Amino acid sequence: MSKVLDAKVLAVYQVAPETYYMELEAPEIARLAVPGQFVHVRCSDAQDPLLRRPLSIHMVSRPKGVLALLFRVIGQGTELLAKRQPGDTVNLLGPLGKGFTLPLPGSRVAVVAGGIGAAPLVFLVQELANMKCQITVYLGAKDKKSILCDGQFTQMDAEVVIATDDGSMGFKGNVIDLMERHMDWRKTAMTYVCGPKPMMQRVAALLAAADVPGEVSLEEHMGCGVGACLSCAVKIAHHGQITNKRACADGPVFPSWQVVWD
Ligand SMILES: Cc1cc2nc3c(=O)[nH]c(=O)nc-3n(C[C@H](O)[C@H](O)[C@H](O)COP(=O)(O)OP(=O)(O)OC[C@H]3O[C@@H](n4cnc5c(N)ncnc54)[C@H](O)[C@@H]3O)c2cc1C
Ligand code: FES
Repeated sequence: MSKVLDAKVLAVYQVAPETYYMELEAPEIARLAVPGQFVHVRCSDAQDPLLRRPLSIHMVSRPKGVLALLFRVIGQGTELLAKRQPGDTVNLLGPLGKGFTLPLPGSRVAVVAGGIGAAPLVFLVQELANMKCQITVYLGAKDKKSILCDGQFTQMDAEVVIATDDGSMGFKGNVIDLMERHMDWRKTAMTYVCGPKPMMQRVAALLAAADVPGEVSLEEHMGCGVGACLSCAVKIAHHGQITNKRACADGPVFPSWQVVWD
């Protein structure tokens, strides 16, 4: 069951180039949310932009009734959102979508994040850490300044391995090349991925070749966010059939081997 509510902004600040962290008081959504779900956010109190913008639930504190977002300023909506101040309210619809499938407690898992793709994976790692999983996070970005959430992952006892395109932090190069070299495929029970589409496509191919299960979180353009407008259709292969699924209601998380990458 999702809720529509005005959430009070508790904190908002810049954490990296064009990237903002926002904490919101939203006890009902924090209580219901699971990792991989998102909220549909009204970025302005005016008519423009009319459509809500989907943002992943980055973290929750259920005891405090707080949820956090981590977002990159891309266009009009996110630009307006970044200007909100503590004490303002933001209208949220959520939690929406289907989240990640959690593994058996104590499993060894890999988490692969490219750029702002780290946003939903912090909540996931929170949950995996509670389940005493052995977690390795492969974290990639273009440079040191753009690496997100490494401290949060480390605090949750995850092993964090970093790749930057320019070599300013960690491995010089692509996070996928790093993962390919470092990951112990035979021991990994599950891999979770979020990042740019070409990156998720390459990781999905690697997982399929190694026969390791994985899930990807897709960031499609969305209209309604609740399964009614079909603007977020994605092609999913299942039992030899290709069908259109709605990223907002059937996803945004899908098994990596089922996504038909156009
Ligand atoms: C389920 C889900 C979860 C998401 N979680 C996060 C998150 O946690 N943090 C975050 O920073 N972003 C996240 N996104 C992406 C975020 O929704 C978009 O960046 C945001 O809607 C852009 O809104 P805007 O008004 O700022 O830009 P707009 O003015 O809407 O768009 C600016 C430009 O970006 C393009 N664009 C907009 N949205 C997308 C998209 N989804 N994919 C590709 N191109 C796009 C537009 O075509 C346009 O060219 C998520 C998307 C989905 C579907
Ligand atoms: S956004 Fe309307 S059906 Fe998914």
